[in-house]
Amino acid sequence: MAEIGKDIHKAAELLKRGKLVAIPTETVYGLAANAFNPEAVLNVFEAKERPHFDPLIVHSSTAQWVKQHVAETSPMAQILMDEFWPGPLTLVLPKKPIVPDVVTSGLDSVAVRVPSHPMTQDLLRMLDFPLAAPSANPFGYVSPTTAQHVQDQLGDKIDYILDGGPTTVGLESTIIGFEEGKPVVFRLGGLSIDVIEEVIGKVELSLNQSSDPKAPGMLKSHYAPGKPLYFGNPGEMITDFEGKRIGFLGFMTRLEFLPPKQQLILSPHGDLHEAAVNLFAFMREFEKFPVDLILAEKLPDIGLGRAINDRLRRASVIP
Ligand code: TXA
Ligand code: MG
Repeated sequence: MAEIGKDIHKAAELLKRGKLVAIPTETVYGLAANAFNPEAVLNVFEAKERPHFDPLIVHSSTAQWVKQHVAETSPMAQILMDEFWPGPLTLVLPKKPIVPDVVTSGLDSVAVRVPSHPMTQDLLRMLDFPLAAPSANPFGYVSPTTAQHVQDQLGDKIDYILDGGPTTVGLESTIIGFEEGKPVVFRLGGLSIDVIEEVIGKVELSLNQSSDPKAPGMLKSHYAPGKPLYFGNPGEMITDFEGKRIGFLGFMTRLEFLPPKQQLILSPHGDLHEAAVNLFAFMREFEKFPVDLILAEKLPDIGLGRAINDRLRRASVIP
């Protein structure tokens, strides 16, 4: 098992030696390595059993620092950096040669982000290299939102887990790239599209580019919990599962026809931010519940609800 602690000096030392350390961010926990050490980065892919065609995000403490890794920053990218960093936004920009190919899976672009979590900010400031970090879960599984989630799944493969408490956003960062100068959303996430559009106007969605860019649809599911999850309208789906023990993942209210102990409600007050914070932890909790499958209710398709629905759809048996 990995040691769990709050010692950023220890984390920094390990990272300098090419070791893997799980780090807290405001979105989800990341599995970090020195982005400039190809061997360490390869170990990240190995620990996650992640295919090498799926590139990693490079984390830095400031936008200033990010600019040492990207070849150019368009005016619109600059506006997004000024407005939303540090925070749950990742930008895909042309890379400089200093970023190793293993980080970007050979692409000539690199995904960059400035996380806002104070502990990881402090850690990054102690290092003279950025951190390549995917979410700290086995490939295809739900992302971790606590140090214990990381321990449960990757504890025997990493050296240290930096414990920054439960994450405050709960969904991975929103990813934006640029095609012919126009902003394109590659992944919905913790920064909602409406908030982005208030700043830069309408954006296009192109949602299969990230999370297995060359193989969308090849994988049966992504972000999946350990039990089959069905996503949609529970009232309509329920008849298909007679004789099965059903778990219900609802937005605001329980179902009357199921025992309360088989149900988890994301936000009784209907707060989408609270729902996002609870989502991945609740998906994991169903593993301990005496249920055969999970019915997940569709949330309102607005604000963070869109990103939550996206994750539930990808986690479902029939995405
Ligand atoms: O919130 C987050 O973004 C978390 C925390 C740890 O920062 N990280 C995270 O990383 O979710 P990961 O590896 O699970 O997801 C990164 C996604 C992948 O689906 C990958 O395909 C996409 O970013 N990506 C990375 N580089 C890219 C690039 N050059 N072009 C397009 N997509 C890219
Ligand atoms: Mg991931």
